[in-house]
Amino acid sequence: MNRSLVIVGASYAGVQLAAAARESGFDGRIVLIGDEPDAPYQRPPLSKGFLTGSLNEARLPLRSQAFFDEEKIEWMPSMRATHIDRARREVELQNGARIAYDHLALTTGARVRKLDCPGATLDAVHYLRDLRDARRLAQSACAARRAVVIGGGYIGLEAAASLRQKGIDVTVVETEPRLLARVASPWMSAYMQRAHAENGVAFAFGRKVVALRPLLDAVTVVLDDDTHLPCDLVVVGIGVIPNTELAAECGLAVAGGIVVDEHARTSDPAIVAAGDCAAFVPHWSVDARACRVESVQNANDMAKIAALAIAGRPQPYRAVPWFWSDQFDLKLQMAGVNTGFTHHALRGSVEEKKFSVFYFRDDALIAVDSINRPQEHMLARKLLANGARVAPHEAEDAAFDLKGVMQ
Ligand code: NAI
Repeated sequence: MNRSLVIVGASYAGVQLAAAARESGFDGRIVLIGDEPDAPYQRPPLSKGFLTGSLNEARLPLRSQAFFDEEKIEWMPSMRATHIDRARREVELQNGARIAYDHLALTTGARVRKLDCPGATLDAVHYLRDLRDARRLAQSACAARRAVVIGGGYIGLEAAASLRQKGIDVTVVETEPRLLARVASPWMSAYMQRAHAENGVAFAFGRKVVALRPLLDAVTVVLDDDTHLPCDLVVVGIGVIPNTELAAECGLAVAGGIVVDEHARTSDPAIVAAGDCAAFVPHWSVDARACRVESVQNANDMAKIAALAIAGRPQPYRAVPWFWSDQFDLKLQMAGVNTGFTHHALRGSVEEKKFSVFYFRDDALIAVDSINRPQEHMLARKLLANGARVAPHEAEDAAFDLKGVMQ
């Protein structure tokens, strides 16, 4: 076989797709096109260890150069794909060159949503998506005393925790009435809020930022109730927008993401998509609506499914979704998706900061959030993958052997 696979986007999904294609026996040419100058790297540490200074840049790459060489994966840095010619099966690059493909994979990811108010482009304003953002933020954080974090999602909270750990005063501004509203249950939102408050983080809930005003060397964040928050540093984490323009422009189906089926195939049989940019109806969906899943797990697992489709051995995407976040001394790990849960059960000790919350929709276990219980998180993933039957009173009973329900 001497066919070619071109992958647009060199982050988790792109790199995993290249590796998985080789593992599934694809022996043709693989070209991995990325618009960043740095070797593909891990993003999770950017808002955690990289920001606190406990992890240096040398530990960020996802794979070594030797891996790309050995696997004959042609990684092209600092290169944008500008157009897809589906009729000729060619990808056009920013330098005018064209690369022919038999299979094309779109792993174009997502970009940050930008703040849209007067002063939003001041130097003190930071985003946290790529390594360049993280370097600039880490540098600014060295001299900062007061920070305002806009957005109480994953990025906002991880940045808030990292900045507090550096001794910086932090206020989080969130439009919703609670933290992590997109992903966490109200119970877990309240728990995380208490943890942040205990570590000195201040909050403004239900508030919008109306302006950022320069103030000598600093900036004042003005909220819609006329609160003024002076600070030297602003971090914005208000969500992401999928990079779907390339797909839309060449006529692929796009609806809130690049539309793919359960095999990660787009509306063109020669093109797959995976990761943050791809919209699909997940097997755990309650309403059969397509959605995107923004996580490392999804990028990796979906990329493997896409590689199998390319290899002619399609498998449906059935992985249990999981997420994690480190904030202060808390390792939050989430397995499954708790949408529409009807009741929950608590296992372990909240006082000792070691517990799990089991979510049920009627009789079915649908998700488990764990705090500092990594083994229970791994077990929860297995329980969910096996559709194991666990009753709420069993989940709550520390003496009940959860492993036993799978036998
Ligand atoms: P997010 O969607 O998790 O949270 C954004 C938050 O900002 C929400 O709470 C939302 O209500 C709030 N918000 C929106 N507009 C606002 C405004 N104008 N003012 C104040 N608050 C506003 O997105 P986030 O935190 O930016 O993360 C970006 C991406 O990175 C996501 O895909 C996320 O899943 C991923 N990520 C994942 C991590 C993990 O899994 N541990 C860690 C860090 C990032």
